[in-house]
Amino acid sequence: MLSFSKKNIILCVTGGIAAYKSAEIIRLFKKDGADVRVVMTESAKEFITPLTLQAVSGNQIHDSLLDADAESAMGHIELAKWADIILIAPCTAESLSKITHGRADDLMGALILATNADVYIAPAMNMNMWLDKTTQDNYKILSERGLSFIGPAEGEQACGDIGPGRMVEPNEIVSLISSSTNRGILSGLTITITAGPTREQIDPVRFISNNSSGKMGYAIAEAAIELGANVNLVSGPVSLHADKAINISNINSADEMLESVMSFMDESNIFIGCAAVSDFSPVDYIDTKIKKEDSEQLDIQLKKNKDILSLVAEHFKNSYVVGFAAETSNVEENAKNKLNSKNLNMIISNDVSDQSIGFDVDENEVNVITKNETIFLKRDKKIRIARQILKIIHSNIN
Ligand code: PMT
Repeated sequence: MLSFSKKNIILCVTGGIAAYKSAEIIRLFKKDGADVRVVMTESAKEFITPLTLQAVSGNQIHDSLLDADAESAMGHIELAKWADIILIAPCTAESLSKITHGRADDLMGALILATNADVYIAPAMNMNMWLDKTTQDNYKILSERGLSFIGPAEGEQACGDIGPGRMVEPNEIVSLISSSTNRGILSGLTITITAGPTREQIDPVRFISNNSSGKMGYAIAEAAIELGANVNLVSGPVSLHADKAINISNINSADEMLESVMSFMDESNIFIGCAAVSDFSPVDYIDTKIKKEDSEQLDIQLKKNKDILSLVAEHFKNSYVVGFAAETSNVEENAKNKLNSKNLNMIISNDVSDQSIGFDVDENEVNVITKNETIFLKRDKKIRIARQILKIIHSNIN
C-alpha cells in the first residue's frame, strides 16, 4: 500500500522564494497515493502561478475566504474537514505569526483554526528572521499546541546569508510526514474484524438480512493496515473492495461467520465485531423456491443464532475483544449492558435511529466505552472514526 493511499492532503503555499518547490511536494504526495488540494496566499502567487499548482495537483486552487463561488464549491469549513493532513510549505515568518495568533482573515488562517487534521509546518525565511525572539516564541507556542515542525534546514540562503532558515527539501518533507503518519503503532499485532450483514437463507431466493453496508468494518480494516497491523476481515455480502493487504474471508450466514472468525482467533491479538450479525435464522431451509400460490400466509420459524462476540470473549481471554452496539434508544446504557453481559474489553455504541450515521452512510458518531471511561467521537467520516478507535485500543493495550 502507498504511504498516502486515500489520504486527503492540503498544501498551503505562502509567499517565500521556496514556493517554487511546492510543485515537487505535490508531485511526490500524489505519486504516493494522496489526493492533494492547494491553498495559496496572495503573496505566494508572486512566486509561483496558481495555474502551475492547479496542473500538478489536478484540482482547482483555493485562494479566497470571501469568494461566494469558491465557498459554494468547497468552503473553508468543508476544506478543513476534508483534510487528513495539512502542510504549510513554505511557511513564512508572517504566516507563522498569523497562525500563532489565530487570525482568520484569509483562507489559510481560517483553515488552520477550523481543522482537526494533523498540521505540519516547513518554515522558510531569512536566518535572522527565524532566530528572532518573536519567531522563536511563535515556534515554541505552536510546537506546544501539537503542530509539527519540519526544519528549517541550515545552509546558504537566497539572500546569501548562511544559517538556519532554508526550507527542507521536498523529498525529505514528504518522507518525514510519511513516517510520522504511518508510525505503525499496531505493527506485530493481528486483528480480526467482522463487517457487513449476514444473510440467513429461507429458500434459494429469499433471505433475512439487514442494511449494513460494511463501510464501518472495512474502514477499521483499512485503518488497521495503515497502522501496521496484520488484518483478517470476515465480511458478509457487501459491494466494497478490500485493500489487497487485507486477508479477506467472504461469508454469507452467521454460522459461516462464526466458523471463519474462530479459525483466525488463535493468532489474533484483537477482535473487533463490527458486523450486523442476524440474530435469528430460519429453523428449516426450504431447498426449492417457496411458491406464493401455495398459501395466503407463510409462517417461518426462527431460531436464535450463536453470539460470535460472546463466544470470542469466552474462549480467547488473552485477546482484546471489542463489540459494536447499534442502538435506537438508551444508547449508552444499553451499550454498557452489552459490555458487561458479553464480557468485553470495549464496546462502541452508535445511535442508529439517526439515519445520517451508522447503517449504510459514510459518517458515524460513536461512544467508545470501557469499564473505566467513555470517549465521545464526534461525527466524522468512518475512516477517521476508525483511526481514532484503533488509537484508543492501542493506548488501552499498552
Ligand atoms: O456496515 P455499515 O453500513 O457501515 O454500518 C455500521 C454498523 C451500524 C453496522 C456498525 O457501526 C454497528 O453498529 N455494528 C454492530 C451492529 C449490531 O449487530 O449491533 P448489535 O447491538 O445487534 O450487536 C452487538 C454486538 O454483538 C455487535 O458487535 C455484533 O457484531 C455482535 N453480534 C451480534 C449477534 C450475533 N449473533 N453475534 C454477534 O457477534
